Amino acid sequence: MSNLKFYFGEGVPVEMHKVRIVQKLNLIPVEKRLKSITNAGNNTFLLNNCDVFLDMLTDSGVNAMSDKQQAAMMVADDSYAGSATFTRLESKLQDIFQKTYFLPTHQGRACENIIAKVFVKKGDVIPMNYHFTTTRAHINLNGGTVEELLKDEGLETTSTIAFKGNMDIDKLKLVINKYGVERIPFVRMEAGTNLIGGQPFSLENMKEACEVCQEYGIMTVLDASLLSDNLYFIKTKEEACKDMTIQEITRKIASYVDIIYFSARKLGSARGGAICTSNENAYKKMRELIPIYEGFITYGGMSVREMEAMVVGLDEAMDMDMINQGPIFIEEMVKELQKKNVPVITPAGGLGCHIDAKRFVNHIPQSEYPAGALAAALFIAGGIRGMERGTMSEERNEDGSENYSNMELVRLALPRRVFTLSQIKYAVDRIGWLYENRQLIKGLKFIEEPKVMRFFLGKLEPVSDWQEKLVAKFKEDFNDSL
Ligand code: F0G
Repeated sequence: MSNLKFYFGEGVPVEMHKVRIVQKLNLIPVEKRLKSITNAGNNTFLLNNCDVFLDMLTDSGVNAMSDKQQAAMMVADDSYAGSATFTRLESKLQDIFQKTYFLPTHQGRACENIIAKVFVKKGDVIPMNYHFTTTRAHINLNGGTVEELLKDEGLETTSTIAFKGNMDIDKLKLVINKYGVERIPFVRMEAGTNLIGGQPFSLENMKEACEVCQEYGIMTVLDASLLSDNLYFIKTKEEACKDMTIQEITRKIASYVDIIYFSARKLGSARGGAICTSNENAYKKMRELIPIYEGFITYGGMSVREMEAMVVGLDEAMDMDMINQGPIFIEEMVKELQKKNVPVITPAGGLGCHIDAKRFVNHIPQSEYPAGALAAALFIAGGIRGMERGTMSEERNEDGSENYSNMELVRLALPRRVFTLSQIKYAVDRIGWLYENRQLIKGLKFIEEPKVMRFFLGKLEPVSDWQEKLVAKFKEDFNDSL
């Protein structure tokens, strides 16, 4: 375990790895940060990485690879069809999930495209603990809608409940009876539920949800993109699982579901995606689409080098010293922010630290994107790139009105094994300063708004000259410090 206690009683997370390849960072002056975020249309997705000091946008495709992963990439078997690399990856997935079939894709949303195209038709309803942006987009594109069945407590931003990603089993039964099994092609569970702050489900809840589906003859699908965080929480917080190994917990989860898919940009710390199932019928239907959208069925859009890295990365995802690195550093960041009264999602989840913008900037109405405004302000204050996970990440209703998000979050992702404790302390310091000066932060409005997934490419401007005022306050308080 790497959350060590020192003699004087203080617990400190400790990196269970050493750094042997480094990337130089830049911290550009505050005036330049303002220029840079203005050019990016106040959208952190549109910043140039060379202007970013701490890139906490996501953990997707940016987790640090291990020496073993890099070494494995050198011995890939490059072949269009039937490469030994594919066989190695297939065997590794069969071993981990105990599913017969594996289909490769270029990333997680490509799995969602295949699954939605094969199983979702107009009028269908897909119950799930909570949606993810790309998941819902694919379901909607195929004429289906999403029903979120999170337990009510999952949406409470401050809580001591360990498994806020749990599905409400009563709500599941009600939804099945309301729509009927013929309109429900599958029920989806998302591990490490992304949009509510990387919150896990329990093994028990997963089992219960899947048992209900089995009773009704409904297929179950697991989005395992954030499985490693969820495994850590099951192992450390679910009493009945404390003596199980990570591998045993994984196999148990997998045994309940019919289809598992994941983004290997997250799970496995590589790039790519995978769909695993033992259902031959489902496999054959999905397989037909792989050569059309992804590539031949033994690479599915991935490079063989990435596939080799994934083989090793998946093994490492079964190692507690590897998977605890995200959650224990996130917990530390959350604890330090709480000391400064900064409103954060609790309990600390996986993926990253989530700031509750609804409370941080409670003077900004949801129509002016409080989480987007806070993300822009944080870049100005510290060169830290977070991601808006609130109303900007929603799509407008058909009549053009806003679809206000349940939560307004700024996610500060901690890609695994990338940042040190001192960098986290720096982020906490700047967030603390911003909190003290939160009244200076005002809203944003769209000047360019794409119809689909506007958060990726949309551009916004501040509703007033608040950003100049923020820079002026920064100069006053920090003098010539960057
Ligand atoms: N499912 C979940 C739970 C995810 O978090 C993601 C991606 C996907 C599916 C799609 O996978 O990016 O490989 O196509 N999440 C990234 C993030 C984008 O930043 O949280 P992908």
